[in-house]
Amino acid sequence: MKTAIIGAGYRGRTILGLLRGMPFFELIAAADPRFAGSPVKNSQKRQIPQAFGEGGPSKSAENAGAPSMAGTGTADPFEGLRLYSDGPEDYRRMLAEERPELVFICSPWNCHIPQALDCLKAGCHVALEIRGGRELGEYQPLMGFPGKVFPLENIIFRRDILAVREMVRAGLFGEIVSMRGGYRHDLRDELVDAAGVLGGDAAPVARSAAPGSPAAASTAAGSPISAAAPGLRERPSEAWRGRLYTSENADIYPTHSIAPLCLIGDVHTLANVTAFASKAAGLRERLGAGCPKITLGDIVSTVARTSDGKLLTLTHDTTLPRPRSYGIEIQGTRGIWDEDNHRIYIEGRSPFEQWEPDAGYIEEYLDPMWRRWGAEALAADRHHGGMDYIMLRAIEEDLRGEGAAGQSGSPAPAFSYPATLADLALWTSITPLSAKSIAEGCTVELH
Ligand SMILES: NC(=O)c1ccc[n+]([C@@H]2O[C@H](COP(=O)([O-])OP(=O)(O)OC[C@H]3O[C@@H](n4cnc5c(N)ncnc54)[C@H](O)[C@@H]3O)[C@@H](O)[C@H]2O)c1
Repeated sequence: MKTAIIGAGYRGRTILGLLRGMPFFELIAAADPRFAGSPVKNSQKRQIPQAFGEGGPSKSAENAGAPSMAGTGTADPFEGLRLYSDGPEDYRRMLAEERPELVFICSPWNCHIPQALDCLKAGCHVALEIRGGRELGEYQPLMGFPGKVFPLENIIFRRDILAVREMVRAGLFGEIVSMRGGYRHDLRDELVDAAGVLGGDAAPVARSAAPGSPAAASTAAGSPISAAAPGLRERPSEAWRGRLYTSENADIYPTHSIAPLCLIGDVHTLANVTAFASKAAGLRERLGAGCPKITLGDIVSTVARTSDGKLLTLTHDTTLPRPRSYGIEIQGTRGIWDEDNHRIYIEGRSPFEQWEPDAGYIEEYLDPMWRRWGAEALAADRHHGGMDYIMLRAIEEDLRGEGAAGQSGSPAPAFSYPATLADLALWTSITPLSAKSIAEGCTVELH
């Protein structure tokens, strides 16, 4: 399948690296304005491998301390691709000239919907990154095209999450009553630039270009991204993301927390949403006198209720010290799973009122995708413990089924991707819904 990518920053490069190891995806082109000024001429096909350096994707808010591109398939994710960098609209020229069948969109949040719309109009399938929502109904223009949209929420492809979905389907937890999740990740270092400015652009010199550091190696090797923006943050998302903390008060990044709950509990609509925000003390204490007015509470707690009475409790927690966690908990009439502590309690099976380790249960209820591709996923995707690889395999399998179903006499596809554009719209709607609930002190009713 002729495949292109829009937005080749941290996430785009990680995905490109993995796609290289998957022959189904024929990588043809990438569009990113930051290629401009790179040693490679615009739209010229890359012939010579050009190392990104050991570090590969930058040390990032999502993956502080993450391993190198080793395990993502290649040292140079752009090798052999045609690059389009003539401004923010140049992806359109890429669509017209390269005619890709599938486009991965890994650009900043404000680009996703217009770019996806252009891809769908051009007849492509779209693999679309996650984001915080902006307004209700914003994904509506993407509905109804023949091209498919695959939300790239990788957490739902985790080995344990998919196994717990199987446990729920088998009735192990009885009737599901309550599910908790969170995006609980101390971002204070990532949100502030080298000059101490929240949402500023200055590159963290000491961190990214220390002699002998991975990022220094990357620059020396001529990474097109680094060469394009001397003195600026290598990962611009950290700038625009930081600025949200002075303008919003909402769960601004809800998909990692809600998507696994919706997958496990088979939730596709919500009845109402109520959110609460704590005071904003974490950044004030960290930044001291120079701190701008912070609008986003340190803890934003959102409770969503489904029409059949399930509670989904979400926590956005990014500006207080803590080890990273998703804090998932699934509770039903017959048992409970506690993701953080890797433990489970099933009434009648576990010793009375005693937790058991969840590992044996996960093995027993392993999802078919992990049974089939688990070994290769763990070998190919050390960066994210296999979940990105399983996600890409799931796209491949879905599209193969699509092709087979189109042939006369072929049976309907046996496999479909476990999330849809409508699911992505639901997950991201938590941002505007929580904003409204907090601002107006109300429960937002949806039906
Ligand atoms: N699922 C995950 O684990 C995960 C992890 C990190 C990021 N993400 C998501 O991936 C997306 C990208 O995040 P990132 O961390 O890679 O950000 P980033 O800032 O590292 O990369 C974004 C890239 O898009 C490019 N870009 C900007 N405008 C563009 C345009 N008009 N056309 C083409 N390219 C353009 C930028 O130059 C940059 O290289 C976001 O939606 C983010 O939420 C997901």
